[in-house]
Amino acid sequence: MSHPVLDLIFSRRSIRKYTDQPVDREVLVELLQAGMAAPSAMNSRPWEFAIVTDPVKLDALRKSLPFGNYQAPAAIIPLYNPLIGSNPISVSFWQQDLSAAVQNILITASGMGLGTVWIGVHPMPPLVGAVRKIIKAPRWITPLCVIYVGHPDQTKSPRTQYEERRVHWDEY
Ligand SMILES: Cc1cc2nc3c(=O)[nH]c(=O)nc-3n(C[C@H](O)[C@H](O)[C@H](O)COP(=O)(O)O)c2cc1C
Repeated sequence: MSHPVLDLIFSRRSIRKYTDQPVDREVLVELLQAGMAAPSAMNSRPWEFAIVTDPVKLDALRKSLPFGNYQAPAAIIPLYNPLIGSNPISVSFWQQDLSAAVQNILITASGMGLGTVWIGVHPMPPLVGAVRKIIKAPRWITPLCVIYVGHPDQTKSPRTQYEERRVHWDEY
């Protein structure tokens, strides 16, 4: 049996080809609202976000990310800022906190008809350094990933990758 929320989740696929059409600023703000609706450990919300639409900076990102050389009109970069997390006990959960925000952004974008792809940055020091430099962030800021966003120029089939053998009911 299908459900609209499952249809949405199954439809989110990594899109790596985009049209030239820019993504409206208001839409980018809505994506960030979705991101900042995510759960975080002790509600610490240790995140900030860089939004890149400058073609020169997008080009620099493409050149710096060997597995992220995709022509998108916008990028959202979730940033960990250890100085703003509201609870010191939750610091070691930051990757989970930011990843929850990332997934909210990907699913929301998909529901809006936009395409996204998650490009891993942390924990690869050369990638972290390159992205930090492009957005002129100080050294204590860690970019988790780059999310390219754009209007899709490719289609992919919805799917789950459910595998029963990965599921352990009550005992492993
Ligand atoms: C932590 C993480 C890092 C990823 N890094 C890259 C990347 O560097 N380049 C890329 O093209 N896709 C990257 N992806 C996207 C995956 O390749 C993609 O999610 C996976 O192949 C499943 O396909 P789907 O997103 O269409 O379901 C990354 C995804 C995650 C979660």
